[in-house]
Amino acid sequence: MKGDIQKAREIIDESKTIVAFSGAGMSAECGVPTFRGKDGLWKNHSAQDLATPDAFKRDPRTVWQWYDWRRSLIKPLEPNLGHYAIAGAQERKDISVITQNVDGLHRKAGSQDVSELHGNIWRVRCTECGMEKDNTDVPIDILPKCDECSGLLRPAIVWFGEPLDPSVVSRSSELLSKADVTIVVGTSGIVQPAASMAAYAKESGSKIIEVNIEETPGYGIADVFILGKAGEVLPQILEEDAL
Ligand code: OAD
Repeated sequence: MKGDIQKAREIIDESKTIVAFSGAGMSAECGVPTFRGKDGLWKNHSAQDLATPDAFKRDPRTVWQWYDWRRSLIKPLEPNLGHYAIAGAQERKDISVITQNVDGLHRKAGSQDVSELHGNIWRVRCTECGMEKDNTDVPIDILPKCDECSGLLRPAIVWFGEPLDPSVVSRSSELLSKADVTIVVGTSGIVQPAASMAAYAKESGSKIIEVNIEETPGYGIADVFILGKAGEVLPQILEEDAL
């Protein structure tokens, strides 16, 4: 692993433009409840049952109660040393973040350029007029209403079966096409578009450094694969005086 870390540091040293592409594993050490594991269950509902447009249409109250519960779990959590290492590298490098996480922890750590592919749990959007804004209330009013048109607000999150926001996708593609190196961290690469995005970066000439606690299907395309935790590995490869 030491050799891999050295190699990753060399690639990063030579790079001007860096993208950190993160998934659920990035926040695992902070205690963010996972979607698929047992800790994601709430009153016997699974995320797959609740995070859908149909569930919200049928029973918005239950979906909001579930999000209120998730918000209450996430609110006290702090970023880990990996989030801070990415934010800290902004001082020396052109580094942006593309994340599948909705917890807002990259921004909380101080990263400025964050593209959130699946939205953000701290934003709400009106189902009538489309107005979107920050909302960090915990507890939140169940069935919150839009200030402008009184329409029902929903979490500004991409649910199962919904398309990603085209402007976020095109910004992400632009960043990946220009990246000298893409650090793929804590994502299984099973869920689209994660798998295709890392491959797109590679095709566009980016080196790939992957950080994960287990081998992933993406392993084959990585120039360097580092087996380890995001919060431990990222400071070692990104901080100037880490070695
Ligand atoms: P997954 O849950 O599919 O994968 C998490 C990955 O993180 C796995 O490969 C783990 O091995 C790895 N991992 C766990 N702990 C780690 C740690 N401390 N350091 C490094 N790696 C670690 O999560 P994603 O790939 O993010 O979608 O899945 C993407 C999407 O699936 C989520 O955004 C969500 C979910 O359905 C929506 O909400 C639309």
